Amino acid sequence: MKNLKDLFEHQLKDLYSAETQLVDALPKLQKNANDDKLKKAFEKHLKETEGHVKRLEEICDKLGIKPTGETCKAMQGLVKEAESFLKEDTEKDVQDAGLIAEAQRVEHYEISGYGTAVRYAKELGHDDIAAKLQKTLDEEYKADNLLTDMAEDRLNRKAKS
Ligand SMILES: [Fe+2]
Repeated sequence: MKNLKDLFEHQLKDLYSAETQLVDALPKLQKNANDDKLKKAFEKHLKETEGHVKRLEEICDKLGIKPTGETCKAMQGLVKEAESFLKEDTEKDVQDAGLIAEAQRVEHYEISGYGTAVRYAKELGHDDIAAKLQKTLDEEYKADNLLTDMAEDRLNRKAKS
């Protein structure tokens, strides 16, 4: 990679890989959630995530590059960790608390990735692309906050009892 443009394109492909992996993983999390609110939150975020994939496709199209070709190993690891958690024999409320924890790790990872991408887009003068990436970043923050609320609400309290 010679310049920031190369790095930016690499980051976009990495995000694309992360988001497409998440589209596959979220239904598994949703299926294994016990609380209705949590199930709905995963369902909602799946739809948003599909939108994030689409945005990245539009951005790459505009830049004249393919979004594919990278594998986000960090997301692979996060998904693997969630899957191995689900293999454990876990009491229902504890399972929900654990799913929230795994999902928040994913959100924090994405928040950091999109935060970087927004800054690079701005530095490279792609204000329209920065705005599009910012929209996704805002949705990731919202998803994370929703998970925090749920964790604080009742799930963690229940898990403790
Ligand atoms: Fe996303």
